[in-house]
Amino acid sequence: MWAHAVAQPNIALIKYWGKRDIARNLPAAGSISLTLDALWTRMSVELYEGDEDTLSVNASANSEMQKRVSECLDRLLGSRRPKLNVLSESNFPIAAGLASSSSAFAALVMAVSRAAQLPGDPLSLARFAGMSSGSAARSFFGGIVELSAGQDEIDVFCISDPEDWPLRVVIAITESAPKAVGSGTAMIRSAETSPFYENWISRQDQDLHVAREAIAARDFGKLALVSEHNCLKMHSVMWTSRPPVVYWNAATVNAMETVRELRRAGVPVFFTVDAGPQVKAVCLPEACAAVRSSLAATPGVREVLVSGLGTGARPLDEA
Ligand code: PMV
Repeated sequence: MWAHAVAQPNIALIKYWGKRDIARNLPAAGSISLTLDALWTRMSVELYEGDEDTLSVNASANSEMQKRVSECLDRLLGSRRPKLNVLSESNFPIAAGLASSSSAFAALVMAVSRAAQLPGDPLSLARFAGMSSGSAARSFFGGIVELSAGQDEIDVFCISDPEDWPLRVVIAITESAPKAVGSGTAMIRSAETSPFYENWISRQDQDLHVAREAIAARDFGKLALVSEHNCLKMHSVMWTSRPPVVYWNAATVNAMETVRELRRAGVPVFFTVDAGPQVKAVCLPEACAAVRSSLAATPGVREVLVSGLGTGARPLDEA
């Protein structure tokens, strides 16, 4: 029997970039993110009698994801587990810096917990998903979410419900091809080679503190400053890795400049960029139309998506 689940990707404002423990995929520091509502990954899974897991991602095979999915299933069900058929469908480009692994692994773990009737509260399931993709743990919760990185395990919780502060995220897509270097490999490279890495990690608590204060006070200007600063610090660590990890293209820089110009004109908006060339502009609802049209008119921007804040991963009951 098939079991289904859906999860939304999340976009970090205070970023996760670095692991405390590679084998357990524990993050070296905490992070804060926004769970989106307009983008989704639906996962359907069924236990079956075959010899190999099967995976279809948007109706195609995907060998890189296949390995990560099977490892995730081993962790959840043990290595003597039955095999599974897995169907994944997303309504946005995957592996292109739009946090598709966050929604994919959150939806996968939720669907498998239903198919195999595993007991599990969202936090326990989030911890499993986080072993496959650190950011996936955050997609178990909605609104604004904090992940705190303990020595042995993570904690994840909602710090602001979607309706409490209904921020909007306007995503400028500058390239939809999959990225050349995956975030897992790239962050290990950064830890080993960037001269800025230790400094980056040691200052995360300070940025988390400022972001938490800004969110509690609904202080958009304060959240804007700390989020852009944190994003640029992460990219500085990437750029100073050896070999360098540069996810930006010319349109990424153009879109960042559009956001800066809007802010200079008094529009409440700031940017963030993840492991890919897309620019995510976070704004207050009243600024959304202006942000959208300015980004759509920015040279090199191919498409613009708009999202509000969504809810955490959940099972779907359809057959
Ligand atoms: O969860 P991963 O392994 O795909 O890494 C996510 C890394 C960033 O998206 C760049 C930052 C973040 O906190 O989501």
